[in-house]
Amino acid sequence: MKPFWFNLTRKVLKWAMGTDRIEVSLRPAEKFQGSVKILGISGSPRGRKSRSYKMMAKVLEHARVFGAQTQEIILCEKTMKPCEGCLSDPDKECTFPCIHCEDDTNEILQMMIDADAFVFATPIHWAAPSAIMKILIDKMISLEENHYEIAMSDGREPLLGKPCALIASQEGDGATGALGWMAAELREMGVWTIPWGQTFKPALLEKKIVKLGMFALGERKFEWIENNLAAAGRNLALVTRLLKESGYKWDDYDVIEPNC
Ligand SMILES: Cc1cc2nc3c(=O)[nH]c(=O)nc-3n(C[C@H](O)[C@H](O)[C@H](O)COP(=O)(O)O)c2cc1C
Repeated sequence: MKPFWFNLTRKVLKWAMGTDRIEVSLRPAEKFQGSVKILGISGSPRGRKSRSYKMMAKVLEHARVFGAQTQEIILCEKTMKPCEGCLSDPDKECTFPCIHCEDDTNEILQMMIDADAFVFATPIHWAAPSAIMKILIDKMISLEENHYEIAMSDGREPLLGKPCALIASQEGDGATGALGWMAAELREMGVWTIPWGQTFKPALLEKKIVKLGMFALGERKFEWIENNLAAAGRNLALVTRLLKESGYKWDDYDVIEPNC
């Protein structure tokens, strides 16, 4: 439907029935079968031995229990040049594929296009996500910039409506702000954080002596962190499946309402 017909229909409806409400039927997607794909992206420069990676692995493990297929990207095992800011350069254009075709940028972004949901895990570095995580978030702008073109060729938006969980490890301070910033910027790109999907752990809790002491004292105060990781995996797997099964579209290119 063209915007003209859309607007005309609304006007006629309003005149004839005193309403301009649009009835939308949410039919189950006919084609969706199988597992949802959840992509874990780990941003610690310490790789698989890092605390944030281990937390991410726990979320993915729980997601698998609830039927999801999972994949991982360990950013420090990849190469990614920093964003060159083509967006702001009148002589260039920010598009996907990114101009950095000699490094792993486009492989990573393609995996994000193919995924249904994400887990982002990062250590806190100076009250912010790690530098490699920030580079990835910067470079996601190429998906955001030509999301319509990708949707036209792939049949769906690269990021729109995809749920995520955010995980951080820190020594003492900064995770709330850093994860809050990530949530806000990812949301700008259409990626939303699920309930219980924003969890951080102080590094101290990973020390064997502390674990032993807490066990000896019967201390259960921090169990909520492990519970949150499990709940994030479960919810991510199930809510992503619900969304895919419903066939819900967050945007409808036929319905553009310029003068609503
Ligand atoms: C460059 C740098 C900056 C850091 N800044 C902070 C900080 O601002 N706040 C904090 O609590 N911890 C900070 N840390 C400590 C790490 O966040 C902490 O050790 C974390 O558990 C490491 O996680 P990982 O094992 O996933 O890499 C910093 C560490 C580094 C290397």
